[in-house]
Amino acid sequence: MEIGIIGAGRVAKAFARQLLNTGYKVMISNSRGPQSMHSLVKDLGSGVKAVTTQEAAQAKMVLLAVQWNHLPLALSNLPPWEGRIVIDATNPSLTCEPYVNAVDLDGRTSSEFVAELVPGARLVKAFNTVYYKFLESYQQENHGRRVIFISGDDRYAKRECSEVVKRIGFMPVDLGNLVNGGRMQQLGGPLANLNLLHLHK
Ligand SMILES: NC(=O)c1ccc[n+]([C@@H]2O[C@H](COP(=O)([O-])OP(=O)(O)OC[C@H]3O[C@@H](n4cnc5c(N)ncnc54)[C@H](OP(=O)(O)O)[C@@H]3O)[C@@H](O)[C@H]2O)c1
Repeated sequence: MEIGIIGAGRVAKAFARQLLNTGYKVMISNSRGPQSMHSLVKDLGSGVKAVTTQEAAQAKMVLLAVQWNHLPLALSNLPPWEGRIVIDATNPSLTCEPYVNAVDLDGRTSSEFVAELVPGARLVKAFNTVYYKFLESYQQENHGRRVIFISGDDRYAKRECSEVVKRIGFMPVDLGNLVNGGRMQQLGGPLANLNLLHLHK
């Protein structure tokens, strides 16, 4: 499967590397266009293609990895989503550092906000709690696998996302629907910034 990524920064690169290591193909995009990603593509190696956001958004599964305040622009002028899967790895923060405070969304979850920007997509929230350095590292340590929380309203999308999570070496933990699960895993929620290992039996 080819997976699209909107964003080509720390999270995007770490995720792309894990995908490429496990045989996926990747289309990666940023705000400046494919020609600005020569060295990134070279660094990531074969299986990755630098594309426009419009092309990345046409993959069957698309990861969102841009900073919160860039989301509206990054998600504008894209083709209709038509049921494709969008994985929201973003946090509602004005900096990408961990342990920061969330921006005030008037009691709404960040996923509700993102859902409005991707009408018609099957939205899953995942990968937002894991620091990019852990995302790019080997996922098994001390006999456990690193946990990735998943929330969403669409079972099919969560199943597909869980398959990717498992294949790249993490342990998916389903928290339920987008609003309630999303609230737990979003910045400011009880599971934000947790780095958990699921121990093997
Ligand atoms: N850093 C972490 O450890 C971490 C962990 C979990 C979740 N997150 C969340 O994940 C998201 C990304 O974090 P990051 O650390 O990867 O950020 P980052 O390193 O700053 O990368 C952001 C990327 O977004 C791209 N971008 C900006 N505007 C765009 C647009 N209009 N269209 C397409 N791409 C655009 C940037 O491309 P240009 O350079 O071309 O503008 C850049 O490649 C944030 O919401 C953050 O809160 C971060």
